[in-house]
Amino acid sequence: MVSRKLESAINDQINAELWSAYLYLSMSAHFANKGLPGFANWFKVQFHEEQDHALKFMNYLISKGNKIELQPIKEVDTSWNSLLKAFEVTLHHERVVTSLINELVSIARSENDYASENMLQWFVSEQVEEEETAQSMIDALKLIGDNGFGVYTMDKELGQRKYTPLNTSTTTSGSE
Ligand code: FEO
Repeated sequence: MVSRKLESAINDQINAELWSAYLYLSMSAHFANKGLPGFANWFKVQFHEEQDHALKFMNYLISKGNKIELQPIKEVDTSWNSLLKAFEVTLHHERVVTSLINELVSIARSENDYASENMLQWFVSEQVEEEETAQSMIDALKLIGDNGFGVYTMDKELGQRKYTPLNTSTTTSGSE
């Protein structure tokens, strides 16, 4: 079992991951309504990935014989003034998630809970990727500015993104 303290913090993290999923689903719906199916697709893939993150944490707690306590998911915004703004919100949010993951690692470390620390390393690496991706979108959108053809081309490109289900089993390998 993991400690009650870590159990509670991971339950909070499950909620944070599900809130992330809800945020990205809302962004997907917003950009679908704006006639940008590629961006909508990109955020929908992100939505699925966040659900997988929640499941990965949940399966870990179950494997350890800990209790899952699902909490209410708070409301999310439903519109953004621009693509750039949405990705700035995304980057800011991912930085918050990174700090939450770091806090989980700190708890595991302070308790000499090496199994949990090992499980959490996957999320540490994932957060590096999440922040890099959001930053690269911001950089691309700043370059494009208000060039409609640039936005059109980027939308086409993002429409190609495919969801690859994550291995959410409790083994710490097999991360894709
Ligand atoms: Fe679950 Fe976007 O990190």
